[in-house]
Amino acid sequence: MEYTEFGKTGLKVSRLCLGTWGIGGYGWDANPDDVRKDAIREALRQGINFFDTAPAYNAGAAERLLGDVLAETGERKNVIISTKCGNDLIDGQYVQIAKRDYLLKQIDRSLKNLRTDYIDVYFLHWPAKDGDAAEQEALETMEEIRRSGKVRFLGLSNHSREQCEKAMTYAKIDALQMQFSALVEDNVSILDWGVRDQGLGTMGYGPLAGGILTGRYREARTYGKMDNRSRFYDYYQEPLFSRAMKVVKVLDEISANHGGAALSDIILCWTARKRFLSTVIFGTQKASRVIENCRSLDLALSEEEMRAIDRAAEAWAGEKKMA
Ligand SMILES: NC(=O)c1ccc[n+]([C@@H]2O[C@H](COP(=O)([O-])OP(=O)(O)OC[C@H]3O[C@@H](n4cnc5c(N)ncnc54)[C@H](OP(=O)(O)O)[C@@H]3O)[C@@H](O)[C@H]2O)c1
Repeated sequence: MEYTEFGKTGLKVSRLCLGTWGIGGYGWDANPDDVRKDAIREALRQGINFFDTAPAYNAGAAERLLGDVLAETGERKNVIISTKCGNDLIDGQYVQIAKRDYLLKQIDRSLKNLRTDYIDVYFLHWPAKDGDAAEQEALETMEEIRRSGKVRFLGLSNHSREQCEKAMTYAKIDALQMQFSALVEDNVSILDWGVRDQGLGTMGYGPLAGGILTGRYREARTYGKMDNRSRFYDYYQEPLFSRAMKVVKVLDEISANHGGAALSDIILCWTARKRFLSTVIFGTQKASRVIENCRSLDLALSEEEMRAIDRAAEAWAGEKKMA
């Protein structure tokens, strides 16, 4: 595993972070609790020291499984946890609530779920949906929580640059978490601004584009309404599916140059080399895939191969804009 400074926080984080959305057990393929816990145990063995979770990941279930494994292994003090606020899963639906009273309860639930008395990095999951006053209330509450010692650093997730600049007037912000993959490059400039101009720690989520860039989906199919392959990621159905396959084809060609290397290794290696990301959050429920994904940092992609993926990503973005 490689480690890097996380902005100006003084935290030294692994270049790969384990995301726990799938591990929460809702909106993705179903696996038993112990299989999902094993993925966390394996991440610890592989030297991953950064874990991303959220109360919205199956109403605290992901936080609880992570808390259980950290308690069982005694590793809490050696790892960095990011969790989030302002978003939740209630009766199977994602709900944004950024009110002070709710956030003060939500942090205490997260601490209990995670079996800890502090969170390392605490994100506002989404910009408050009710506008500026609601966003200000959320951020001032987060600042209050930070000052109380329950969290060490605050971050913004899924915010625009303008929203970030405003947020920074309400709270001390040290981190950004944004979507980034070869199929979603919209956040490059904000991540770049965060790292270079603001000295923030940056986390890129969804590097496998929800799994499609691993090459495991070769045909479009329909998923349930709350499955994230229909609800959150929009290229699992036509017409975008076939276009995404063009990017996968480029990864297939690169794989052939590397003796059939896994596409997941190629795309994670490409993502982890992006300078605007301190760390890359991948999700999996399986220990075997944690091992596979951690190998990706050893892959030696040539400059030309890196550029070939850049070009495929640009062509995809161009076609998507025209669609
Ligand atoms: N801030 C936010 O709003 C936000 C939004 C989305 C995600 N996130 C964070 O980012 C993390 C990662 O995002 P994500 O989970 O949505 O997407 P992702 O990491 O791009 O893809 C996850 C999917 O890829 C599959 N996968 C992983 N490794 C694989 C491999 N080697 N071979 C084949 N398939 C593989 C997983 O399936 P299996 O489980 O079956 O292995 C899973 O379905 C989340 O867990 C969460 O912590 C944050």
